[in-house]
Amino acid sequence: MKKIFIIANWKMNPQNLKEAKFLFEGVKKSIKDIKNIEIVICPPFVYLSELGIRNKELEIKLGAQDCFWEESGPYTGEVSAAMLKNLGCQYVIIGHSGRRKELKETDEMINKKIKTVLKTKLKPILCIDNISQLKKGIKGILQKDFKNLIIAYEPLSAIGTGNPYDWKKAKEMKNKIQKVLIEQGLSPLSGDSPCIIYGGSVDSKNAINYIKQSGFNGLLVGGASLKTKEFMKIVKNISN
Ligand code: PGA
Repeated sequence: MKKIFIIANWKMNPQNLKEAKFLFEGVKKSIKDIKNIEIVICPPFVYLSELGIRNKELEIKLGAQDCFWEESGPYTGEVSAAMLKNLGCQYVIIGHSGRRKELKETDEMINKKIKTVLKTKLKPILCIDNISQLKKGIKGILQKDFKNLIIAYEPLSAIGTGNPYDWKKAKEMKNKIQKVLIEQGLSPLSGDSPCIIYGGSVDSKNAINYIKQSGFNGLLVGGASLKTKEFMKIVKNISN
């Protein structure tokens, strides 16, 4: 059985470090007895350093919400994968639908980012809404690197809308993703294959369906990850 991931995507929240610390400490305090779930928090870049210092025992894994595809160089405003790694990050969200839409990130850019993240020995969380995005995102990935990839299926209609996707339809999509992985020569249930997680209006009521009924290996949680009580309810419902 693969590990279950619960990944918090804070997006551009909160607006100050004090609140970020509060949110982080709230989760840290509440996960002491949780053993079977990998909890990853992806705050804005600017909080990573301070939260890393508060996370010396690595109770919570840290992730970033993006990084640049070049490894180093004169790129104003960009953050490299190595910088993230040196701060203690282990995961990087790549290709979130918000960035695809607002910043016109293309599949090509996303594919380059995925490769750089893998090369830096971080784990990319590739967000997709459809199979074409998946195929273009994983193009040219070395077979040995697939085990470090997480695929997040995030149907557009469900992201940030409060309209969670039907778990049966989500399961169909998960099966299609697995088919693509089989075509790549991977065996979806083996340790060599990426974990597939679901994201989009996840809350404490619907979370369990995506794990138990649809068979996803985890969840990418946006809005609900900004409310500690609700987020911990999701974690506890899954871990029971
Ligand atoms: P949501 O966001 O849970 O608020 O729908 C999910 C995401 O954007 O990753």
